[in-house]
Amino acid sequence: MSVDKEYKYLGSGRNRHVFLLPSGRNVIKVPINEAGRTDNYLEAVRFKKSSINSYASYARCRLLNFNQACLIMEYVKPVLFISESYASQMHKEARSTEYCTWFAEQDKYTIVTGDSPDWVKCIDCAQVGLNLKGKLVAYDYGN
Ligand SMILES: Nc1ncnc2c1ncn2[C@@H]1O[C@H](COP(=O)(O)OP(=O)(O)O)[C@@H](O)[C@H]1O
Ligand SMILES: [Mg+2]
Repeated sequence: MSVDKEYKYLGSGRNRHVFLLPSGRNVIKVPINEAGRTDNYLEAVRFKKSSINSYASYARCRLLNFNQACLIMEYVKPVLFISESYASQMHKEARSTEYCTWFAEQDKYTIVTGDSPDWVKCIDCAQVGLNLKGKLVAYDYGN
């Protein structure tokens, strides 16, 4: 099997490329610049310091043993919170470009209508999602 098939590409931000590991339970975050290395390091530290009582919830992660630049993190399905009014407006304008774009992207997210918990507002661009246990956690929290 080729590397491409074993490690499904999930997405990229400004600093990292992210691939799903063959188990489907974890991802690997590969830095593409110095900021990506720092983000990986800070996420590992922040997760280690966090506890059940922490204000925000963080996806479980650790630096890769034999390559401290890469991070292993639990798989998270991103969630997009949209307000009730925005949701109903979108449905009314079902043929608008905006709606079509939203509809196409829906696949990548779980759409939740309603307010997000307060701690989500402290996470850069509200990059949160559901882990495999169904818990809402942040997946980009290095900054
Ligand atoms: N734990 C994860 N599970 C599933 N997909 C993820 C996870 N972490 C990141 N991703 C995907 O990879 C993309 C880039 O990761 P991200 O952590 O946001 O990197 P960057 O710091 O470069 O913005 C995200 O937008 C998301 O689509
Ligand atoms: Mg990001």
